[in-house]
Amino acid sequence: MKTITVNSRKGGAGKTTVSVSLAMAARQAGLRVVLADMDPLRSSSEILRSREEASSMLIEANAGKLWVLQENCKRNGCDLLVIDTPTHPESEIIHCMTHSDLVLAVTRPTFLDLAAVRETIALVQRTPTPGLVVLNQCPPKRNGEENPIVIDAVQRLRFGKLPVAKSVLRSRIAYQHAFASNCGVTEWDVNSEAAADVLWLLAEISKHLALAPPKSVPLPRTLRRRPQGVSPVRAMQSALRRLVG
Ligand SMILES: Nc1ncnc2c1ncn2[C@@H]1O[C@H](COP(=O)(O)OP(=O)(O)OP(=O)(O)O)[C@@H](O)[C@H]1O
Ligand SMILES: [Mg+2]
Repeated sequence: MKTITVNSRKGGAGKTTVSVSLAMAARQAGLRVVLADMDPLRSSSEILRSREEASSMLIEANAGKLWVLQENCKRNGCDLLVIDTPTHPESEIIHCMTHSDLVLAVTRPTFLDLAAVRETIALVQRTPTPGLVVLNQCPPKRNGEENPIVIDAVQRLRFGKLPVAKSVLRSRIAYQHAFASNCGVTEWDVNSEAAADVLWLLAEISKHLALAPPKSVPLPRTLRRRPQGVSPVRAMQSALRRLVG
């Protein structure tokens, strides 16, 4: 089982958005996933707790319970544990980071966020765990052209001490629709641009973690009813295979 801690020391950068989106996409792609909500504000739980399967995929916890949680997850055949963290206290975040296989340092591509992400990066570096910076809420491309803000952010992060994920998450209204419907964006509309962003990021992370794409996937009932020709889950799997392969 692999554990990913999602953190940013700055509020509102997108920890919950990244955690829920990745966890639900990985689950939809057939991995057994548990999302641990370690933020006392319980935003991830707010999104997912009304779902029928909530008890098998969502856990409200704190860093002190991480070891027991990981042991339980392993015993129950979980493939991936995603931890949504708060901005503080530092000691709890470091504990989660230390006992993870990968830390995602989430940041928006703005001047102040990029300044703040240095702190998150510094925390990751106090642990033995590899980290990856994830740019969130990036402006969408225009006519295929990357926004200068994103180019500049990547440039500035290039000289930092953590690699930057090639896949960025852009500002998309789909996240609001999905969360209001108690699901991730890939579940809400697997053909949306937001879903594509998340799938590419998931594929990139899978490569970092050497997570094998699942062989057979039971199609969720809601997706099975969709009228389009291509199975969204299959589309997701092939996206994963292309990069994990
Ligand atoms: N890529 C995105 N596109 C559109 N809206 C987004 C995106 N990422 C985050 N948001 C919105 O920005 C707000 C903050 O995001 P989120 O709650 O994920 O951040 P957070 O880091 O978990 O915040 P907190 O520090 O309060 O836990 C939310 O309303 C969320 O829906
Ligand atoms: Mg949050």
